[in-house]
Amino acid sequence: METKILVAYASSYGSTQEIAEEITKVLRSQDLEVDLQLMRQVNTLDGYFAVVLGAPLYMFHWHKDALHFLARHQNALARKPVAIFAGGPFGSGDGNEWQEVRSQLDKELVKFPWLRPVAVEIVGGRFDPAKLRFPYSLIPALRQMPASDLRDWEAIRSWANDLVSLLRVQNNNHQLELA
Ligand SMILES: Cc1cc2nc3c(=O)[nH]c(=O)nc-3n(C[C@H](O)[C@H](O)[C@H](O)COP(=O)(O)O)c2cc1C
Repeated sequence: METKILVAYASSYGSTQEIAEEITKVLRSQDLEVDLQLMRQVNTLDGYFAVVLGAPLYMFHWHKDALHFLARHQNALARKPVAIFAGGPFGSGDGNEWQEVRSQLDKELVKFPWLRPVAVEIVGGRFDPAKLRFPYSLIPALRQMPASDLRDWEAIRSWANDLVSLLRVQNNNHQLELA
């Protein structure tokens, strides 16, 4: 029986990993059975009733591991509830930044018309110019940006808590369909 939830994430600098860990903690605290894995290490979605996918935006695109994951697991994902979170924005977080990040993500998700996420959340990003690696370390505009951490942990925990009831309802419907 498919009763477990998979939280699969991509993270280049670790901040999305920390968010995936926190979401996993919240789901487990509500007695859900959850596996946490790097997206690129996931071979199969067998055994999972639902999937929570998280990855940051880089240069206006969703992390390439997330795009590959969606393409690779299309058949399985099209039949399961999928919740999505994305890292960004970075910088000041002022004005329309959060809305712009949502638009960036939406532009990526429309490339997968079969995907019908049950929830989508922009979770904020963490940025440290001192840690930039090649080739980003060569971009002066990035090097001059201040360090920031726009992750809102209360909002992240609250989103994860909302997922608990959402996924429980989906799971009950799923079990009824199977019965
Ligand atoms: C080179 C670079 C480019 C980025 N581009 C974007 C972007 O286009 N949109 C956005 O919302 N955030 C962008 N970000 C912010 C990242 O999404 C944010 O730093 C995120 O927390 C990184 O996640 P990670 O630590 O899991 O790799 C960028 C960050 C870096 C370092």
